[in-house]
Amino acid sequence: MINPKEEKTFVMVKPDGVKKGLIGEIIKRLEQRDLKIVALQMFQPTKDEIDNHYPKDEQWVTRLGQKTKMTYEKYGYDAKKEMSTDNDFEIGQMVREWLVDYMTSAPLIRMVIQGIHAVDVVRKIAGPTIPSVADMGTIRGDFSIDSPLLANREKRAVMNLVHASETAEEAGQEIKHWFGENPPIFDYKRFGVDN
Ligand code: CDP
Ligand code: MG
Repeated sequence: MINPKEEKTFVMVKPDGVKKGLIGEIIKRLEQRDLKIVALQMFQPTKDEIDNHYPKDEQWVTRLGQKTKMTYEKYGYDAKKEMSTDNDFEIGQMVREWLVDYMTSAPLIRMVIQGIHAVDVVRKIAGPTIPSVADMGTIRGDFSIDSPLLANREKRAVMNLVHASETAEEAGQEIKHWFGENPPIFDYKRFGVDN
C-alpha cells in the first residue's frame, strides 16, 4: 500500500556544515529516523542558482526581516540602530543578500529525502532557523550557536548548518531547481521501513 503522506523533501548541507565536517552527522540523523536518501551530490553553487533558490517575493523577504527583528526585540537590541532601518522588508533584503554570499562560500551537499511526512520530520530534525531557539537534539540546536545579533553586525547571514524545505510545495520547486525536470531519484526499499 502506498502511504498518502510518503513524500519527498529537499535538503542541503550548508557551508558551515561542510566546513565543520558535519556532512556525515547530518546524513546519519536523517537515516536513523528511517528517512530514505534517494538522491545525493556535492556541488559548488553559483550566485544565480542560490539567488533563484530563495524566494524573492515580498512576503518571504519580509518574514526574513521579521526573524531578525524578533531576535533583536527578545534580547533588547534596537533594530534601527543595528540595521539603519526597522522596516521588515528592508532588513529582509539585506539579509537575503548576505545569504547568497554565505551559501556560495563553499561546496554544498544536496539531497532528496523520502519518507512519511518527510517535509515536517526533516524540519523537526533540523530545528528552527535561529540556533539559540533550536532545542538540543536538533541539528541546529546541537551544533550551531550563531545569532542575527552577531551575524548582522558582521554583515553576514546566520549560519545554521542545514537547509530543509518548509512545505511540500517548496520541496517540489527546490527539487526541480536543483536536480532538474527529471530528477535522478533512486528507487529502493529500506529494510524494516518499506517492507
Ligand atoms: O532555513 P529556514 O527555512 O529555517 O529559514 P528561512 O526563514 O527560510 O531563512 C533562510 C536562511 O536565511 C536561514 O536558514 C538563515 O541562514 C538565514 N537567515 C538569516 O541570516 N537571518 C535571519 N534573520 C533569518 C534567516
Ligand atoms: Mg526556509
